[in-house]
Parts: sequence; C-alpha cells; structure tokens
Amino acid sequence: MIIRSKKSSDIPSSEITPPEVYLERRRFIREAGLGLATLALGSTALSNEVAGQSQEIPARFRTIKSELGEELNSYRDITTYNNFYEFGTDKRDPSRNSGDFEPKPWTVSIEGHVNKPGNYKLDDILAPVTMEDRIYRLRCVEAWSMVIPWYGFPLSALIERVEPTGNAKFVRFETVYRPEQMPAQRTRVVLPWPYVEGLRMDEAMHPLTTLVTGVYGTELPNQNGAPLRLIVPWKYGFKGIKSIVKIEFVERMPTNTWKMANPFEYGFYSNVNPEVSHPRWSQARERRLPSLFKSYETLMFNGYSEEVSHLYTGMDLHRWK
Ligand code: MTE
Repeated sequence: MIIRSKKSSDIPSSEITPPEVYLERRRFIREAGLGLATLALGSTALSNEVAGQSQEIPARFRTIKSELGEELNSYRDITTYNNFYEFGTDKRDPSRNSGDFEPKPWTVSIEGHVNKPGNYKLDDILAPVTMEDRIYRLRCVEAWSMVIPWYGFPLSALIERVEPTGNAKFVRFETVYRPEQMPAQRTRVVLPWPYVEGLRMDEAMHPLTTLVTGVYGTELPNQNGAPLRLIVPWKYGFKGIKSIVKIEFVERMPTNTWKMANPFEYGFYSNVNPEVSHPRWSQARERRLPSLFKSYETLMFNGYSEEVSHLYTGMDLHRWK
C-alpha cells in the first residue's frame, strides 16, 4: 500500500515475511503436533504465545477449515502481520505499538438518515445480536492472504435496529482519532486521519458483511482493530476498517481513505478481481501467509462470487476499481 511509485525491484522489507516469524510458526506447528496430549485436555488447551502473552484458543478450532477446505492461519500470523497504519507502516508495528490503546469503554455514534441515531455503547450494540464464528479469506490488495476465524455478527442486524430512511443509499464508517494512543496519527505524513471507509447500502446489508469483535473466538487484539471492525470478505482488505467509532447513513457515495490517498490505484468498490491488475502488480495470484511465494490463484470476488456477483449485475468490473 505504498503511496508513491517505485521500482518493482525495490520490494519493501515489510512485504516479505521476516524469517523469524516464518521459523517461529514452523516451531509452533511442530510443537502443536507433538503436544497432542495437551490438545486433548479440554476446551482451551490449544495455546499460542504472542508478545510474551499466552493466548488460549478454544478447542473447536482444532478441526475447523474454510468452506474450500483451507487450513486456518495461526493466531500468531493473524495478530503479528497487520496493516493498521495508525500504529506504523511495518507489518509488525501494530502488534508492537498498540499496547497503550484502550478499546474499553467504547461508544459508536450512529448518524445520518436513520430513525434511531445516537451514541450506542458497544455492550448495548452487542446485547441483542447472536455472535458467530465466520471463517473468511482476507485478501489484501498487496497480494497476500490469510484464512481467519473472525467472531462477530452481520452488520445488517445493527442496520435494521437503527432503521435507515429511504435517503440512506450508502454507509460511511470512521476509525477513532486518538493521536495520544496511536503514534502515527501524530502526523499526517502516512495517511489523512481519521481512516474512513464506505459501502453501498446493499453491500452493507449483505449477509457476508460482518462486524467483528474477536478472532479465534477470543477478544479482538488491538492490532486487529479492537474493539469493533468491519469485514467484507469479497473486497480487498483495506475496506475492513478498524476500531470504528462512527457509522453514518448518507445519500451520496462517501470517499474512502486509500482512494483519497491515491485515486489512481484505489477505488470505492475494491472487489477482489484476479483480472484487474493493480497499476504496480498483478492481482492474478496471491501469497498465503506464512508462505513467501504466490502459489495461490486469486479467486473472483475472493471466492464468494456465488453469494455476491448479483450485486454488480450490469457493472463493468474492469472499469470500476
Ligand atoms: N483500518 C484502519 N483504521 N487503518 C488501517 O491502516 N488497514 C486496512 C484494514 N483496515 C487499516 C484498516 C488494510 S490495508 C488491511 S489489509 C486490513 O485492515 C488488515 O487487517 P488485519 O491487520 O487484521 O489483517
């Protein structure tokens, strides 16, 4: 997601998995394999250590795979290789620099064309909804991907509750602005803050569109967008705005941060499409972490065509970024 163009030979170190992460994962897999006795102990036996803290993973994830039979990425992959530019641009920065971020208490402001606007406490938002594990591929526009067991609920449940009016054609989301806790927000060199994103109303209401509060059935770590982030699995990962404090129902297509930063490279729709290259690289293949190689073919709509292609009938998918 580098903004300025540069030579293709000049691959930033942040886009290559550091060997210690790779090797660490190999060690974890080996030990997990040897530790079957521990795994059999009960519901919270599969543990994974990140930044010196042991994270207990519910046992149900031992056997879960994606709907395409893909293995889940490890808790370590998911929580140490991140894009959260408010904490820095290196993939390790969010896990290293987000320790002081306070995701509790949390309030979301619901604004715009709705019958029930207001400041909603996160606990109040969560009270009536049914939480689910949702195993989705996350395909970053940078051509890496992971399979992640998110924990959350359909955005449509919240939208129905706040009752949008007929003028609500799009939904606009905003990340918290807290420069005292998010070091990169102290300058605007990286991106304009706060980070913003948007969806068309029918995209927002789609059953795959998820508001996420956890990963691997446990609380969402700060680096993954605590306490509330969006996941739209058929779109490039940057649509999945983190640490949301505002949801606004608007009439006109809102702008989004990466489109503002570089409209030649990023757009509003940003549907995963192997046939439409990024101006600086092909999107035909992807690197499934922790691999260093692009050994996976990218799937149209990230593999969710059957569910979502009808949303774009008549749209020239080669023209719309
Ligand atoms: N949200 C905010 N506020 N700031 C960001 O920098 N990065 C986006 C998205 N949401 C980003 C964000 C990008 S580019 C990606 S790929 C995903 O978050 C990464 O999510 P993950 O770190 O949980 O894998």
